[in-house]
Amino acid sequence: MVKLFRCEICGDPYIGESAPDNCPFCGAHKPHIKESGEAKAEFDLELNGKDKVNAEKALGVEVSNATFYACASEKSEDEYGRLLFKALKKVEAEHASIWKKILKLESVPEGSETCAQTNSENLAESHARETRAIEFYKKAAEESQNPRIKEIFQALVEIEKDHLVFSRNV
Ligand SMILES: [Fe+2]
Ligand SMILES: [Fe+2]
Repeated sequence: MVKLFRCEICGDPYIGESAPDNCPFCGAHKPHIKESGEAKAEFDLELNGKDKVNAEKALGVEVSNATFYACASEKSEDEYGRLLFKALKKVEAEHASIWKKILKLESVPEGSETCAQTNSENLAESHARETRAIEFYKKAAEESQNPRIKEIFQALVEIEKDHLVFSRNV
């Protein structure tokens, strides 16, 4: 019988027979997905100056990456690339919405990224973007004194690392 689950990283609910290996919305790994009654997903946090700066920067990174992936999906020469970049776009847009909630914004700001004309160039760009995001999120996790902010940045490191699989051979 199906149950209601909730991801503790993005806060979104999921209906299924069992917890998925990865959150279908933000990509968080299985340990972050709990039955809805047991899940803790707090977004109303007191941010110190450093956390606020890092949360704003993270929002910018996610908006930029989501916009880039949307462009790459549209330009893709084949169906695989169209679907891959679309999946990445959806995950990064979900990450942007996590920071939108934490920063208590009305909406996610619009991005203005462009992309290259070929999948191989866009995969190389993906690799660079994901690597930069991982380095920044690692540092932001270390810098934070807030356990919830740390938890989110650490989960994002794991998720963005998963994305490197797709650009490994570029
Ligand atoms: Fe999630
Ligand atoms: Fe992301």
